[in-house]
Amino acid sequence: MPGATYGPQTDLVIRFEAVSRDTLSALHEVSSAYTCAMSVYPGAQFPQYRPRRLRQSAVFRNLVRETHLSASQLVLPIFVRPGRRTRRPITAMPGVCQLSVDEALKEATVAHQAGVPAVLLFGIPETKDEKASGAYATKGIVQQAVRVLKKELPELVVITDVCLCEYMSHGHCGIVQRNLQGARILNDPTLKLLARTAASHVEAGADMVAPSDMMDGRVRAIRESLDQHGFIDTPIMSYAAKFASAFYGPFREAAESAPQFGDRRSYQMDAANAREALREVALDVQEGADILMVKPALAYLDILYRVKTEFGYPTAAYAVSAEYSMVKAAAANGWIDEQAITLESLLAIRRAGADILITYAATDVARWLGGK
Ligand code: PBG
Repeated sequence: MPGATYGPQTDLVIRFEAVSRDTLSALHEVSSAYTCAMSVYPGAQFPQYRPRRLRQSAVFRNLVRETHLSASQLVLPIFVRPGRRTRRPITAMPGVCQLSVDEALKEATVAHQAGVPAVLLFGIPETKDEKASGAYATKGIVQQAVRVLKKELPELVVITDVCLCEYMSHGHCGIVQRNLQGARILNDPTLKLLARTAASHVEAGADMVAPSDMMDGRVRAIRESLDQHGFIDTPIMSYAAKFASAFYGPFREAAESAPQFGDRRSYQMDAANAREALREVALDVQEGADILMVKPALAYLDILYRVKTEFGYPTAAYAVSAEYSMVKAAAANGWIDEQAITLESLLAIRRAGADILITYAATDVARWLGGK
């Protein structure tokens, strides 16, 4: 094989030894090594081949750039709360506020004008209880916000986060059953509430729903509920591989959704598991997800890459709250270049396989990119 001379071949031998350890992933690596060797023509060696030739000028670099960032890929998360003319800053997320519906409309208008095509809504209800009533109330906070946004900005794509944690007095994403050992999060009864919540969001006018609860079977339950209500054309963007992560820390202040006891590890994924993530994603695909999301983003680029490679579905990545806060904190200290770091991180997330970028920095990013 012309291209597979000494370097790649040695590589192949080593990789074949790995077969006994883990056949599937080794085979995968072998095929990538092969593709890599074959894509390089036989003479492609120094000094005939000099990669620097195409790095000489901005024009050349632009011509051969493999990955592009554009405002059209961005989604801005917005936290909506009751009240009027209210902007409550979130301490750990400089520049992000809990907004009353009128202020959320202003925020969305500014984002949309900057070139951001979509928002993702989270709600902070007036009151919380043990059945998350506020999540599926016709006049719930998200439902109100959706109506206003779709009326005033019909072109803006309005996505809603479908979860119960913000609406539960205990802060968990499902119904809690207390027993002598502590508490359990009940899966199947929770599905009914999620399905009801999703339908109520779409009833209010949401363009797409994004379940983030990590209960088993939620995508199917939501798909069935939407279809029964006649919303057969409303897509589901599932938080398909969502990990139990310390990177959500600042969000819990933002959404007032910190669990009052325990943690989310009985439903969100273990950060150590990549193969399980692929199984989670496969289930959501079977259940009817239209867009697959990986979350968090930057620390999970391997998962993102594998999800995109294995499934080839439209894929979203959520650059979560702490990813944003860390950049803001370092930038406020003058330690990093905020714009350059943000753009490079998003580019890396795109390179790994994301089509859609959900980020709190969406409006700034759209401006930096000059819109569109
Ligand atoms: C709700 C939800 C969370 C996030 C998005 N949806 C928090 C959590 O699971 O604890 C995190 C987003 C972020 O950190 O920016 N379940």
